[in-house]
Amino acid sequence: MSVNNAMTADFLRSAYGGESMAHMRYLIWGDVADKEGMPNIGRLFRAIAYAEYAHADNHFKVLDDQKGDYTVAAGAVFGVGTTVENLQGGIDGELHEIEQMYPVYLETARFQNEKGAERAFHYALEAEKIHAKLFQDAQDMARQGKDMDIGTIYVCPICGHTVAEHLPEKCPVCGAKQEMYKDFPA
Ligand SMILES: [Fe+2]
Ligand SMILES: [Fe+2]
Repeated sequence: MSVNNAMTADFLRSAYGGESMAHMRYLIWGDVADKEGMPNIGRLFRAIAYAEYAHADNHFKVLDDQKGDYTVAAGAVFGVGTTVENLQGGIDGELHEIEQMYPVYLETARFQNEKGAERAFHYALEAEKIHAKLFQDAQDMARQGKDMDIGTIYVCPICGHTVAEHLPEKCPVCGAKQEMYKDFPA
């Protein structure tokens, strides 16, 4: 893949930075959830961290003809708190991506006829909508001092589509086959 327009390339690098940091942040917050006695929420963080890795991987690979050093600016939520607070950080980060970042990046990629970037941003936007909902569900439980009641979590390695318990025949976002999903069993 390749990119012809500087603005789309900047957005891809920023999105790569944001996804990379989200990946790491969710692994850190997953450890906190484990220590608080909420292993299912810890597992949710790790599954979603993997989805963010898939997004970063897509953004990075669209830029494969843009070699060199760059300083990357990207929004990121910081702080280590309780699991309820960390889940709020997750919700806030996902909502920023859903409501502002990815819609703007996606429209820009379309305007600049950047097909690879358009696909990468579309994949991320669709997954983040699910992530915000899953973090909200987890937070509702954590607020009551309970772990989440959730079975195996599956993540599409192509687009980051995330689903619990009922694996679709093929990914509804990118069309990947069922057997490609990575599972995070209880
Ligand atoms: Fe996400
Ligand atoms: Fe997918």
